Amino acid sequence: MRASCFTRPVLFATVLIAATAWAQQPASLKQAYQGDFYVGAAMNAAEITGQDQRSDAIILEQFNSISPENALKWAIVNPEPGQYNWGLADQYVAFGVEHHMWIVGHNLVWHNQVPAWVFRGKDGKLLTRDALLARMKEHIFLEVGRYKGKIQSWDVVNEALNDDGTLRHSLWYRIIGPDYIAKAFQYAHEADPKAQLTYNDYNLTNPEKLAGVIRLVKQLKAEGVTIDCVGMQNHDHLDSPTAAEEDAAIRAIAVTGVKVAISELDINVLPWPGTGNTAEVSMHMASSPKWNPWPNGLPRDVQQKLTDQYAALFRVFYKDRADISRVTFWGVTNAQSWLNNWPIPGRTNYPLLLDREGKPVPAFAAILNVPGEAR
Ligand code: XIL
Repeated sequence: MRASCFTRPVLFATVLIAATAWAQQPASLKQAYQGDFYVGAAMNAAEITGQDQRSDAIILEQFNSISPENALKWAIVNPEPGQYNWGLADQYVAFGVEHHMWIVGHNLVWHNQVPAWVFRGKDGKLLTRDALLARMKEHIFLEVGRYKGKIQSWDVVNEALNDDGTLRHSLWYRIIGPDYIAKAFQYAHEADPKAQLTYNDYNLTNPEKLAGVIRLVKQLKAEGVTIDCVGMQNHDHLDSPTAAEEDAAIRAIAVTGVKVAISELDINVLPWPGTGNTAEVSMHMASSPKWNPWPNGLPRDVQQKLTDQYAALFRVFYKDRADISRVTFWGVTNAQSWLNNWPIPGRTNYPLLLDREGKPVPAFAAILNVPGEAR
């Protein structure tokens, strides 16, 4: 008798708790982090044009911010002098406007995916400082101006730092000088005073590079240049960065008075050539089977490590949510990730939250659950 009296309420309570937990399980990533930060995905051309409807449906269901994987880069919109291809970029922005997304512009000034002609005159010689500044200004005014009031956040300068925290000697730096960064931000601010302006780079958990980005932000602010945000690309690995390293970097950047965007998140699971967390897109290596160990599926233990690394990073993002404006994945499904072809072509990588069929991998549920764990 006593047992059944005791058991029934316990059973009832258990069912109630389970039902409540089920009801509270957020339906989507954007819902799980509602009010904390935007959750975004980078869109490729097939998604922007509507050819990849399966991925588009996932984007609408899960994400409230979008980034253009390539569509807004200089080499795409302005490949030859006087030739402009706005078609894909316009479609990208229209998609975001239609679905009320936080729309990111990526990117304005970078040393990659910028055509060679940009730096040279008709005579083939490198431009003067003034001529290159004028060209940079024209590009920024055209692109930012075209989407004024629609693109809310611009990656103004991409990857200007070396791993040791010094400024990369790109053609921008060599021709204009170190103040090319300040100039790019000034032009972007003039072109759309309301846009959030971001400096974006990879491997910012490396202490020397982190110190470099902090110097850069402080210097820009001291000069009165508008900079609102630092984008940490987070092209990560199973064992790097650690949660402590990620947390330290976010906090160190945030105390300079800017927001942090986790701007290009993915986690490589494949053997990594060389050392260090680079995302330098010009790095290439020849393919061979030893570099592509899992063409038919990810072993369970590696899947578990991926889940653990994603959960660890999102616990940090959630803890630091007051300083974070968005967390953007660099792609939607594993089928489309750039990490299948970089730095080694033709590999089968597993860096994102949706598998090749568009089904969630275990890390997906782990990430959904992080805010609930903390409550
Ligand atoms: C990558 C794209 O994903 C690829 O499709 C393209 O071939 C090369 O660029 N850092 C950046 C992104 O800022 O623009 C890069 O995107 C990945 C590294």
